[in-house]
Amino acid sequence: MRVIGVIGGGQLARMMIGPAIELGFELRVLAETNDSSARDRATTVGDFRDLDTVRSFAQDVDVITFDHEHVPSDIIVALEDAGIAVRPGSAALAVAQDKIVMRRILEELGHPLPVWAVAETEADVAGFLEANGGRIIAKAPRGGYDGKGVAVVTDAAQVAEWLDGGPVLLEEMVDFSRELAQLVARRPNGETAVWPAVETTQANGVCAEVILPAPSTDGRIIEMAAVLGRQIATDLNVTGVLAVELFETTDGRLLVNELAMRPHNSGHVTIEGSVTSQFEQHLRAICDMPLGSTGSRHPWSVMVNVFGAMDLGRYSRLTQSSDVKLHNYGKEPRPGRKVGHVTATGTDVVDTASRARAVAEIFHADI
Ligand SMILES: Nc1ncnc2c1ncn2[C@@H]1O[C@H](COP(=O)(O)OP(=O)(O)O)[C@@H](O)[C@H]1O
Ligand SMILES: [Mg+2]
Repeated sequence: MRVIGVIGGGQLARMMIGPAIELGFELRVLAETNDSSARDRATTVGDFRDLDTVRSFAQDVDVITFDHEHVPSDIIVALEDAGIAVRPGSAALAVAQDKIVMRRILEELGHPLPVWAVAETEADVAGFLEANGGRIIAKAPRGGYDGKGVAVVTDAAQVAEWLDGGPVLLEEMVDFSRELAQLVARRPNGETAVWPAVETTQANGVCAEVILPAPSTDGRIIEMAAVLGRQIATDLNVTGVLAVELFETTDGRLLVNELAMRPHNSGHVTIEGSVTSQFEQHLRAICDMPLGSTGSRHPWSVMVNVFGAMDLGRYSRLTQSSDVKLHNYGKEPRPGRKVGHVTATGTDVVDTASRARAVAEIFHADI
């Protein structure tokens, strides 16, 4: 039997459990705490920043993969040096772990990006503000997620504290018409598969809603996103699922926002929406199996995140006509926390989205 080790016990690891069972693989999780989202498969509870903990977890698995990108790169390299298959590998992951590295490498490869710069001083920030309309985006290069570590800046002093911790990434404020995400899976042998690009909506910097496929009148944007996604996965030698977050500009261009080398919130919609979900595909890809079809099972699939609380008591408020699939991450309620999602499928995008939103609203609690 294949044994897969996942570092990190969040909802992404949790959503790999079902597909692992279906494929007949054994999934083991190195979880942060006993009540981590993926606790049902947590064979180790410990610190992913501790080399001994990670090494002993990784020792007798066939392949290591990740629930998040925060594992220190020296630990990943140490696993590779010990002959353990790590997918994605350290070289690819380094690009997803640091937003400045990501910008540098993608620029070298010639991919379309927002205007960007690295600031080390407030004067650097002031100069970039001046050159970019007085309103810019600043990003902490590492450790950010869900909009934490991203700020709209109109005055250099706003970045002072961040600069104390090291260089900060600055970007032009992109005037996008919408955000898209392109999911790609790639095997070690180079085979790739792309799902149709999805449209994503962020609320306060956090993914809130996803539509599969991204509505498109002529398919041009879907094709452009697929070509770009495949090229980036190949250029960076990614193994597993890669999510490319994109801005579609008002003049019809695509710019790369950021990369995630793991299943991604924008791909949850593939669980019901696609023949092969991002979670199954990730396991196939890291095990170097043939990839599955990324075709859609319905004309439209819409995913809406549930924030705050998704307590089981609310289930009694659902009706048959709610007609959505529930995904509960088993996490303690907390304001703004992603605790689950719902997905609706259908033939009309407006009706499909409104069914998904209505159920997400039932769960949404002000706590
Ligand atoms: N250069 C930019 N211009 C306009 N909006 C941006 C820019 N960069 C990020 N954003 C907005 O902030 C969100 C979060 O930024 P992102 O870099 O993706 O951080 P995170 O790692 O938290 O997902 C994006 O999805 C987008 O809505
Ligand atoms: Mg993002």
